[in-house]
Amino acid sequence: MSRPYYIAGNWKMHKTRSEAAELTETLVKELKDGKHKYLVAPSFTLLETVAPIIRGTNILLGAQNCAPEEQGAHTGEVSVLQLKDLGVQTIILGHSERRHNYKEDDALINKKVKLALQHGFEVILCVGELLEEREAGKAEAVCETQTVKGLEGVDVVNLNRVVIAYEPVWAIGTGKTATPEDADAIHAYVRKVIAKLYGDPAAEKMIIQYGGSVKPDNAAQLMAKENIDGALVGGAALKADTFAPIAKFA
Ligand code: 13P
Repeated sequence: MSRPYYIAGNWKMHKTRSEAAELTETLVKELKDGKHKYLVAPSFTLLETVAPIIRGTNILLGAQNCAPEEQGAHTGEVSVLQLKDLGVQTIILGHSERRHNYKEDDALINKKVKLALQHGFEVILCVGELLEEREAGKAEAVCETQTVKGLEGVDVVNLNRVVIAYEPVWAIGTGKTATPEDADAIHAYVRKVIAKLYGDPAAEKMIIQYGGSVKPDNAAQLMAKENIDGALVGGAALKADTFAPIAKFA
C-alpha cells in the first residue's frame, strides 16, 4: 500500500517572531506546489505569528510539547486548550530532548498522547535509542517499549491521528544519519509492533517518519525505503534553502 509522505520541521528553540515570519512566508511560496504533507512546529511563542501565514495553505501548524493536564496550577506549562485556541493541529510528543534532557518518562508521555488525542490533535510520537543502547543491540527493544508504552490505552479509532517518528538519539544534530537500511529496519520493526497491538491494516497505514540529520542530500535515499514515510527535520528545517528541497525531494 502506498502511504503519503509527511515532512515536518521541528524548529526547536530557535527564531524570533520576525525570523519565524520570514521563514514561514518563504516556505508557503516554496511548498505551494509540493506533493506531500507538511508541518512546521515552532516554539510556543511563535505560534501566533506563524498561524495566520500558513492558514489555508498546505502546511500544518505543530507544537513541540504540551502539558499532561488540561489546565490549572502548572507554572510554566502550556495546555492543549491554549494550543487549540492558536490553531495548532499537531503536537510532537516524546522527543528525545524531552525524554533525556527533561526526564520525561513513558508514563508522562502516554498521558500527554492521550490528552492530545482526546482534544482532537494529531500526535507525532517520537521514539529512538541512545548510542549505547544501539551498541548493546537494544535498539529494537527500546523503540518497542517506547511505542507500546506511549500508545497504552490509545484506541484503534484514534490511531489515524498518530504518527511515529523514529529518531535515533545518536543521529540528532550530530550530522550522523542512520543508513537508509538501518533506519528502514527499525521502521519495519516498529510497524510490526503496531501490527501486534492494532492489527495489520492499522500498521500498514501508520506513517513512520525518520529524524536525525536529514538533509537535502540524503532525504531521497531515506524516503526511497519501503517503511520510511517522511521526515522530522531539525537543523535543516531552520532555513527554506534546506527545508524546501527536503520537502520536495524527488
Ligand atoms: P536534526 O535534523 O537537527 O538532527 O534534528 C532531528 C530532530 O530532532 C527533529 O525532531
